[in-house]
Amino acid sequence: MNSSDCPQRVVIAGGSGFLGVSLAHHLSRAGWSVILLSRHVPRCNGPWDHVSWDARTTGDWVQALEGAYGLVNLVGRSVDCIKTPDHQDEIVRSRVEATRVLGMALRNLKNPPAVWLQMSTAHIYGDPPDVVCTEESPIGVGFAPTVGVRWESEFEQARLPGIRGVIFRTSFVLGHDQGAGGGALTRLTKLARRGLGGTIHTGRQEISWIHETDWNCLFEQALKDISMQGIYLATAPHPVSQTNFMSTLRKVLRVPFGLPATETMVRFGARFLLRTDPELALYGRYAVSSRLSQAGFTFRFPVLEEALRDLLQPAGGPDSPSTGFLQGMKP
Ligand SMILES: NC(=O)c1ccc[n+]([C@@H]2O[C@H](COP(=O)([O-])OP(=O)(O)OC[C@H]3O[C@@H](n4cnc5c(N)ncnc54)[C@H](OP(=O)(O)O)[C@@H]3O)[C@@H](O)[C@H]2O)c1
Repeated sequence: MNSSDCPQRVVIAGGSGFLGVSLAHHLSRAGWSVILLSRHVPRCNGPWDHVSWDARTTGDWVQALEGAYGLVNLVGRSVDCIKTPDHQDEIVRSRVEATRVLGMALRNLKNPPAVWLQMSTAHIYGDPPDVVCTEESPIGVGFAPTVGVRWESEFEQARLPGIRGVIFRTSFVLGHDQGAGGGALTRLTKLARRGLGGTIHTGRQEISWIHETDWNCLFEQALKDISMQGIYLATAPHPVSQTNFMSTLRKVLRVPFGLPATETMVRFGARFLLRTDPELALYGRYAVSSRLSQAGFTFRFPVLEEALRDLLQPAGGPDSPSTGFLQGMKP
């Protein structure tokens, strides 16, 4: 397929959140017709149709996939939470059950999609210190790698053999809030503006990241490029340490200092103030794709400072959308 075949329909399961809405805007501007499939109506309006499901059982929603060109599966309960047994169960179950029921739906279609893009996580490699992970690296140890493996293996079982499958092991996506949340950058920006954006623990924790524009372009390329299949790391080519990330963020926000935090402070603050998992801040991983260059993908934002400037420091002032973002909004 090439872009002249647009508009074609793409169904984004789990499309009502931060990344789904971002991708929906991007694909609509590029001429695709988009359906968001989620339990709740998206919190914002946009150039899409919305279909409801329960993410567990088949129903009328299956018709949204009939004749669609592509399926994108982003469904997953947020990992930005305290990892109680209940939350862990929901993190796994939401991903596995939604992927499974999408596979069941495909088996009921006369014209199933040609391609299925499946979300996964760069956290699948665990938290190895001082190692740069690529697609070929071994899977890590712990809860996040277990979730990633179960998510990806469910996808492989759910996908029909004739459907091209692409898995994106995605790192921390840096993006805007377009009405459905802005991901973890929103939280880090608030902390940095309050003077709390300093070195955490040793500061050597690795942060792999990708600008949402690159993430969206990557997904669009994977829809169109029939040579893309299998596993890719969706991450920019220059990951940084936590100290480097926060000092770059402060520089872009023009915040002169950031108080450091010890491991104990982070464990207390994450649990009792931010209600999230401290390990998200205390551990990390360097990940770089060895396959995206072969696929001919070029990053618009390969370097962190430029990515953050585009998102946070437009000509009109630090709180308004960037020039680049506004240009991106035009068809
Ligand atoms: N943002 C990142 O930096 C990043 C990086 C790597 C991977 N990811 C993964 O990419 C996916 C999308 O990320 P996001 O940032 O857009 O997340 P998000 O804003 O939390 O959106 C999550 C989506 O999944 C659905 N969902 C949430 N809990 C569910 C549950 N228990 N059962 C069924 N559906 C559920 C939500 O829709 P409803 O609640 O309306 O059904 C929503 O559409 C997630 O799986 C996330 O883990 C994100």
